Amino acid sequence: MSLFLLTRTLPEDATEAALRADVQQGLGRNPKTLPPKWFYDAHGSELFEQITELPEYYPTRAEREILIDRADEIAAATGARTLVELGSGSSEKTRHLIDALAGLHTYVPVDVSESALTQAGHALVAERPGLNVHALIADFTARLVLPDTPGPRLVAFLGGTIGNLLPAERAEFLASVRALLSPGDALLLGTDLVKDEKVLVRAYDDAAGVTAAFNKNVLNVVNRELGADFDPGAFDHMALWDTGNEWIEMRLRSRTEQTVKIPALDLAVDFAAGEDLHTEISAKFRKGGIRAELAAAGMELTHWWTDGEGRFALSLSEAR
Ligand code: SAH
Ligand code: AVI
Repeated sequence: MSLFLLTRTLPEDATEAALRADVQQGLGRNPKTLPPKWFYDAHGSELFEQITELPEYYPTRAEREILIDRADEIAAATGARTLVELGSGSSEKTRHLIDALAGLHTYVPVDVSESALTQAGHALVAERPGLNVHALIADFTARLVLPDTPGPRLVAFLGGTIGNLLPAERAEFLASVRALLSPGDALLLGTDLVKDEKVLVRAYDDAAGVTAAFNKNVLNVVNRELGADFDPGAFDHMALWDTGNEWIEMRLRSRTEQTVKIPALDLAVDFAAGEDLHTEISAKFRKGGIRAELAAAGMELTHWWTDGEGRFALSLSEAR
């Protein structure tokens, strides 16, 4: 018998309050900024799944290749009975890990996207008899309270999503992950690696325009939830490589001088022609940097695997 449980860790109106606060603060900044977690309503989660299949977007394929090659090694090294996955989305690649973990008792996917959690959770319990799925609707940057399930615990953070956090947010996040680890537990971290600028920019500015639609979806979310009148057609999708910071920056560039009204906040926001709204960074990493960031958070990198083309890395770490 499998079990599927879905726990909302915050009341529904807390999400709206968080969106209001982020929009109020972010659009008052210079440059204007919105946090990337607001991309992922049901439509945004669906657009992200489409991105993972684009010819230009290599990270998902590269990480899947590593998981297929290394799942048995990861299972042997961790012996995990509980697998917690932060920002689990469709849990599609995770199936390789779930299948390899012979003693797995409970899978705990954690995501802000209720639609992604529900779809993935129902599919998993139907496909894998005996697996318990306890999904948490939660913000992984907030303090997580995990269900009481048997250890050892493996915390997976795949897809390179750690790159969507700013360096200071990353440090705080890694410290909070460290706090979840008891002796014998481990962190499995997926990180996209620094590579040729053209390959990187193409991955975030695909020919079919799916990433552009994903980027603009944050405007649809603010329109729907806060009654705003953003015209997504009045903004251009931008994907820029920042050489100094070694990250891709996604922005929405206002095509004209315009004023956007946000009634729920009693706000009118002016955009100059050519002004950018910053929507996401996607940092790319090197092994030394990852090792140092993990060490600063009290963890030690024990395994490092890359795909055949050296585009993406999975690392395993334990608490020091
Ligand atoms: N791990 C999957 C999905 C990556 S997309 C993969 O590798 O393909 C990023 C996922 O993180 C989305 O499902 C999104 O809803 C979730 N997410 C983004 N910010 C989040 C946050 N602050 N807290 C919880 N989930 C978040
Ligand atoms: C979820 N995250 C790792 C993706 C990335 O590559 O930074 C989000 C994304 N943004 C544009 N394309 C994909």
